[in-house]
Amino acid sequence: KDEPTFYELVGGEPTFRKLVARFYEGVADDTLLRPLYPEEDLGPATERLTLFLMQYWGGPNTYSATRGHPRLRMRHAPFRVGPEERDAWLRHMRDAVDSLDLPADQERTLWDYLERAAYFMVNTMDDP
Ligand code: HEM
Repeated sequence: KDEPTFYELVGGEPTFRKLVARFYEGVADDTLLRPLYPEEDLGPATERLTLFLMQYWGGPNTYSATRGHPRLRMRHAPFRVGPEERDAWLRHMRDAVDSLDLPADQERTLWDYLERAAYFMVNTMDDP
């Protein structure tokens, strides 16, 4: 059999569902980030990020099957993502990653990616 994917190593779909659910609990109460989300219901946004991360780490390709090519920087262009939004996003994600209690090497792999991705998503350096 092939080497397990990172997706499998960390526990598959339930792990990513738990991660993103916890992340959006933080976003729901965040006065800087919450207004960026166009929909009243954060459920669909939760589903999109969950499916994206599952696919990124070697799980099923449901994200691209339903949403097409990720093009994440382009998809974030309508939203103000400055250093403060990035740091708020990472704060909620840090809390969510910690809640998984992963082995240290897996935690580091996941966090390094999320941190780099969040820095990459910044699309303005202007003051709010
Ligand atoms: C969508 C904010 C970083 C992945 C969105 C949406 C907002 C947003 C407002 C629209 C809600 C929706 O339709 O889903 C932010 C902010 C970030 C950030 C403020 C701060 C840095 C990231 C990062 C990733 C990511 C680092 C990936 C690791 C996604 C995905 C979607 C999305 C997959 C759904 C795209 C789609 O299929 O339409 N984000 N985001 N975001 N974001 Fe972010």
